[in-house]
Amino acid sequence: MQATAHASYWQETAGSPTLYASLDDNVHVDVAIIGGGITGLTAAMHLKRAGCQVAVLEALQIGAGTSGSTSGHLDATTDTPLSQLIFDFGEQKAATAVTANREAIDQIEAWCAGQPECEFSRIPSYAYTESIDGLEALQKQCATERKLGLNSWFTRNVPLPFSCVGSVQTERQGRVHALRYLQHLAAEVHGDGCAVYENTSASPPESAATCSVETSGGRVTAEQVFVATHSPFLGISQLEFRVFPYQSYVLAAQVEDEIPDALYWDDAKPYHYLRLASPHDPSLLLIGGADHKTGQPLDERQRFAELEEYAHRRFSVRSICHRWSAQYYVPADGLPHVGRVPGSERIFAATGYDGTGLTWGTVAGMLVARLILGQPHPLEEVLRPGRLTLMASAKEVIAENLDALRRFTVDRFVGGERIDSHEIAAGTGRLVSDHGQMMAVYRDPGGDAHRFSPVCTHAGCIVHWNEAEHTWDCPCHGGRFMPDGRRFCGPPSRDLDRAHPLPAKTHKAPRESN
Ligand code: FES
Repeated sequence: MQATAHASYWQETAGSPTLYASLDDNVHVDVAIIGGGITGLTAAMHLKRAGCQVAVLEALQIGAGTSGSTSGHLDATTDTPLSQLIFDFGEQKAATAVTANREAIDQIEAWCAGQPECEFSRIPSYAYTESIDGLEALQKQCATERKLGLNSWFTRNVPLPFSCVGSVQTERQGRVHALRYLQHLAAEVHGDGCAVYENTSASPPESAATCSVETSGGRVTAEQVFVATHSPFLGISQLEFRVFPYQSYVLAAQVEDEIPDALYWDDAKPYHYLRLASPHDPSLLLIGGADHKTGQPLDERQRFAELEEYAHRRFSVRSICHRWSAQYYVPADGLPHVGRVPGSERIFAATGYDGTGLTWGTVAGMLVARLILGQPHPLEEVLRPGRLTLMASAKEVIAENLDALRRFTVDRFVGGERIDSHEIAAGTGRLVSDHGQMMAVYRDPGGDAHRFSPVCTHAGCIVHWNEAEHTWDCPCHGGRFMPDGRRFCGPPSRDLDRAHPLPAKTHKAPRESN
């Protein structure tokens, strides 16, 4: 079963990937890495080259999570406005963050050398506005980017086939075929004492005399463990209170208009982004946006409809070839959490990349590899996991965690729909009320109903059926489960429970729209 209903453009076009065996024994290595995405594989590459024995433990397949569902963009700026980073962290630290992202793009370029299938391209970016009201902010943004060392300038010439007022153009950004790049890294890591294991789900690490990770195929003991799962995956930890789960939607559209190869994004909230899927086809556009917090009571299919409408208003669309979405984590203070887990010398984690996960994931992999090798990194203190940056994050921390608390409390009393499982369309799921108990029910394409507790196995919030991706999504910290209840991603370490439905009030409860 594929984890989500929609495969990304990268997953559809990656070709036949190398398949890696699952772990079937106990092993000991220098470093165990949980997660076969951009972060884990980048760290594994560096550690292997330094002579470490590494085991990469991937619960599904390489790139099955967010790394294989991005829009492939490599951006040295951050989703948090750079002026905000300067205000919160100071100019020197903001410049260090930008430099680290530029070095991450350099790193990806270097590792793509001689690998034309990775389709790495150096391209400019355009942060544009369609409104005269957006000009002043863009001009300030341009000045800030230049101050932090980026090659940026303001221009009124935006090479898009619809009316734009102005843009910040930034040179030497990039784009890559995300999944082929990951497959290339995995192939380089596997062998010579290192191993990539697929279909090997892991539990959060434990640290005693040595670190250990229980997996579906055996126990891995290691000198150090890197939790490179993109989301917090440490049981219940303080990281869940510092980063917050959101989803973004992407269309691949064949259009009549040909646009220059570049990254484009506007100043809407949430913003829209545009880019070519491949350097070989200037009319195949990736169009993204319509972001929202994970697990909200809305119909996610509507977000694809919104994007299609956006696309049709700006381009001559011939066809929509792919649709997909991905989850990302927004950090409260604008910067990811990367490094040693609080209270542990030998367990490392990385999360909170916002919408620029390929670049921040590469930074994180490089940073943690250096810490494991005993080398300093200029962002070690700035990105320290679990830091409390009150001035930068208090408002977001309070608002987001109050929202999680509200969902934990309120969703239990909303109740399920009073319907029979036969009334659930095949291939979809519903929260239903069954003899006073709330159940998550999935009716598979063959018509069989599968019943679970709707209680998320991380910290007990109520999961919601994602109408677009056919997953059970938790609104509190972004835990996601497949239709059959198996864990897909996020902080939970266990599948949904089949045994303990939740007592709840019953009523006819059609899902509200936002
Ligand atoms: Fe934390 Fe579900 S992910 S309660």
